[in-house]
Amino acid sequence: MITLNFDPEVDNGKIAQILADIREDPMGGWVNLPQNINIDEVMRIKEVARKITEEAECLVCIGIGGSYLGHRAIIEALSPKSEVDIIYAGNSLSKRELDRALTDVGDRDFSLLVISKSGTTLEPKVAFEAFKRKLYEKYGEQAASRIYATTDANKGELHDEAVANGYARFVVPDNVGGRYSVLSAVGLLPLAVAGVDIDKLLEGAAEMAGEKGVEMSAKYAWMRYVLFSRNYDTEVFSSFEPSTAYFNEWLKQLFGESEGKNRQGVFPASLIYSTDLHSMGQFMQDGRRNLWETIIDYPTDEMNRKVVNAVRVAHTQGGIPVLNIGVPSFDEKGFGELVYFFEMACAISAKLMGVNPFDQPGVEAYKKLLRDDGAGLAS
Ligand code: PA5
Repeated sequence: MITLNFDPEVDNGKIAQILADIREDPMGGWVNLPQNINIDEVMRIKEVARKITEEAECLVCIGIGGSYLGHRAIIEALSPKSEVDIIYAGNSLSKRELDRALTDVGDRDFSLLVISKSGTTLEPKVAFEAFKRKLYEKYGEQAASRIYATTDANKGELHDEAVANGYARFVVPDNVGGRYSVLSAVGLLPLAVAGVDIDKLLEGAAEMAGEKGVEMSAKYAWMRYVLFSRNYDTEVFSSFEPSTAYFNEWLKQLFGESEGKNRQGVFPASLIYSTDLHSMGQFMQDGRRNLWETIIDYPTDEMNRKVVNAVRVAHTQGGIPVLNIGVPSFDEKGFGELVYFFEMACAISAKLMGVNPFDQPGVEAYKKLLRDDGAGLAS
């Protein structure tokens, strides 16, 4: 199980109240995802993943924010063996990126997985249209049987299109927000196609959902709260494994979108060592002391381990509070633990700051502006 190098004195009464609030929150559905796994859904996810593996050389995963970062983070970290190449699209509005993804697919057999809870986000919409054109040109009437849509159960443009055309559908539960959805069909289907053992992932998450795991999340949330109250306004997530750079991206999204509202929030940043020791290392050692560092300490080789130890000591001597989160194994179980640990910690931390961890009014405002001028922007 995850280990921590800190043990703050937590106000247990306050935490108990916060946990009760989180569990009762209409958007608190993610809390029970790993323990209350819907076995039938997991079986269906595995079946569909097998079908995709048989029919396609690559799967184009279309989605943005919470609809793609979590599963990409785990796939990039673990590089599991799979016959299907995963190609990501719809996470920007860059025509160059879209063309690159279309070229990557080339003449290969492919299928499409489009993930959007709202079904209206412009970035995935634009990419979906482009890839649908390619799919229909290649497969004609058979194209619809190669489209998989993960979206709202009952409503939204994507839902309606999927129903009308008979795409295979998966559901983003109503009570689970994008950045908390990795352990639902949003993450599990692409993970299964990529060859990740989703049973082990859920097993790791379920362990962290137990009493001891939640207690650890609360300790970490409490440390963040204490540091924030002492005017540390930036948290740097650092890791010594380059393949976890996307996990850091998911962390930034999780904390940034959950906490950054009502003029509150710790600014989340990330670094990959030892690469970044030769760029941002100077700032970390010697720059303005408004930040703390949270090392995600993965199991690693002997030489890299020496660097981890040296950095921890050097940065502490440089006056940075260094929190260490020890990850027990670099595999599905370890990442399952990490995902749940951080989700719970983030929800508690936001509540300690007095903000709603589960909405994202800022993101919605930007999406609305894009939608209002969508056609003009997309052309
Ligand atoms: O965490 C969130 O809620 C957001 O990052 C969303 O996932 C993101 O904006 C994509 O939204 P949608 O799935 O509706 O396309």
